[in-house]
Amino acid sequence: MSYAAITGWGACMPPAVLSNDDLSTFLDTSDEWITTRTGMKERRVSHVSAIEMSTVASQRALACAGLDPADVDLVIYGGTSNDELCPNSSSGVQLALGATNAAAMDLNTACTSFCYGLATATAMIRTGMIRNAVVIGVELISRYMDWSNRNVAVLFGDGAAAVVLQATEAEEGVVGSVLGCDVEARETLRVRGFGCAYAGQGITFGDTLWDFDGQVIFKRAVRAMSEASTRVLAERGVKADDVGLVVPHQANLRIIESVAQHAGIPMEKVIVTVQKYGNMSAATVPVALVEALETGRVQPGSWVLMPAFGGGLTYCSLLVKWGTRVTPLGKSDAALPPCEKTALEMVNVIRAGQDPHGRSLKGLMAPTLVEARLAK
Ligand code: ACO
Repeated sequence: MSYAAITGWGACMPPAVLSNDDLSTFLDTSDEWITTRTGMKERRVSHVSAIEMSTVASQRALACAGLDPADVDLVIYGGTSNDELCPNSSSGVQLALGATNAAAMDLNTACTSFCYGLATATAMIRTGMIRNAVVIGVELISRYMDWSNRNVAVLFGDGAAAVVLQATEAEEGVVGSVLGCDVEARETLRVRGFGCAYAGQGITFGDTLWDFDGQVIFKRAVRAMSEASTRVLAERGVKADDVGLVVPHQANLRIIESVAQHAGIPMEKVIVTVQKYGNMSAATVPVALVEALETGRVQPGSWVLMPAFGGGLTYCSLLVKWGTRVTPLGKSDAALPPCEKTALEMVNVIRAGQDPHGRSLKGLMAPTLVEARLAK
């Protein structure tokens, strides 16, 4: 059986920066609260669609791998933010890339979508179904954030990154994976107003209410990512000391520090981007991976650990054996169009479009497990 090497990587960060001070112009919050509770200082707000961000990231990853788009076998679009549900987003990226011979699959496990996509594409390559894949992690959360809710509005950001996987005989790429879902906590994170359950209730797209139990998510995230990491290392017989770099999901600096402590890995071996990008859900791990590669933090032949968790509450930890190459084969000149507005101006436009019916969402019914049980 062959392996699936990571041969290309590229990120696409929208340029507009939303600072903590920007948030406190319309929310009862402060730079001090956000910084001390989350480690976040700023995040990005995109002026383009999720498909456009994904396309630029993928073009950069393909140039890095030296792979022609026409030779791509599969595009996986990992994320919760879709420009449209039909046609799917991966086909939009496929079209923009000119990857005319590829299959195209959207994969949504919330924040773990990129890592689940990486595990899926690796399995497909290892069994010989496909020879290569582009795997994307992307989010455009600004468009459906409830900007009136300080519990969530300060936490998230937009962004995208992609990797290219290619079949190889060398033992590299994802060589260990633990995937799971802490389903008892399914109700702790829900975006109301977003999906078929809300049809016919007079909701404007983007007008959402978030159910979010931050403290429960925090504890379960630490436990799930720590246990998954310990298991995947044990299964491969790799010691914590031998891990070269941890590329974790970036939801909160305190979560990252706790997971590193539980795994027995010092913070010097952990890449942290949460201070400048916030929680980009599915995009956090690949964006951090690209940054690690571009700043020389991935050593040839090293072990890279990727723990993540997200809505569901899905969780995982992937163990990657890096190959010999840590530099790009080529460089793409793909870029986003210039952004004419500030991040705050864009957020204010979205806020003005939300809540056209005086917060009619509050009466919304989305049958949840808990509600269904209570109704019996
Ligand atoms: N600004 C100011 N005050 C705030 C804000 C804000 N933005 N948000 C909440 N508060 C207040 C609360 O109302 C509360 O006030 P009270 O004491 O008067 O009731 C106080 O701050 C403390 O709130 P806590 O919830 O106790 O704060 P905590 O230290 O737990 O931090 C946080 C909250 C940052 C959300 C944390 O629990 C966390 O990071 N949880 C996990 C978040 C997470 O994982 N998010 C991602 C979801 S999963 C995924 O990645 C898709």
